[in-house]
Amino acid sequence: MGKDKIRRFAEIATFSNVLQLEAGQPYKGHWAGSFFKNEHPVVLELACGKGEYTVNLAQLYPEKNFIGIDYKGNRIWRGAKTALEEGVSNVAFLRMQIEKLDEYFAESEVEEIWITFPDPQPQISREKKRLTSPRFMANYKSLLKPGGCINLKTDNDGFYTYTLEQIEKSGLKVHIQTDNLYNSPYANEVLNIKTYYEKKYLQHNKNINYVRFSFD
Ligand SMILES: C[S@@+](CC[C@H](N)C(=O)[O-])C[C@H]1O[C@@H](n2cnc3c(N)ncnc32)[C@H](O)[C@@H]1O
Repeated sequence: MGKDKIRRFAEIATFSNVLQLEAGQPYKGHWAGSFFKNEHPVVLELACGKGEYTVNLAQLYPEKNFIGIDYKGNRIWRGAKTALEEGVSNVAFLRMQIEKLDEYFAESEVEEIWITFPDPQPQISREKKRLTSPRFMANYKSLLKPGGCINLKTDNDGFYTYTLEQIEKSGLKVHIQTDNLYNSPYANEVLNIKTYYEKKYLQHNKNINYVRFSFD
């Protein structure tokens, strides 16, 4: 491991806004009251990387709580440090496997989910690892409040098509869909937030796909 990574790992262990692995489990069902000390809605960003959505949404919506989730501590470090430096207190980062969401969040505890530029896992043999495959969708459905939305932004056209197929197969409700976000009427203050990976894809003129959907 490089020196920088070692330093970041040591540093996030001291951050008040980062919970690593099992340390997040006692908050299941009580994130708002016990961790954030309020009763505001809880919003998740999955595969958050450096947490651009988590931090920027938290600044736009101080009346909500935002939790970024990723298993890479050195990436989470960036978002957590920015939130601490800028005094954004409605932010937390959880270093954990998205597969284990049900161990960390109770039924109907979450108002909304963001999935930003997830690994597309194009090989058929890795379909189960795609973050919009049926087992993940079942988890999201149970932890979302009735009517709660999932927002997916992806550069990967194959992953986007796969997700639309899952949505159609399960008869889910699509609120917005576009295969060219920045050439659509939907690019507003929220959808204009750009992640580290998104900026890289845009440099190569990649179209950005976006879909917002819910289970009911
Ligand atoms: C392509 S990066 C995107 C990061 C960020 N959202 C962005 O747009 O810059 C995908 C991220 O998903 C995380 N990831 C992939 N599978 C995961 C899993 N099962 N649980 C937790 N994190 C995962 C990786 O660590 C990585 O940071």
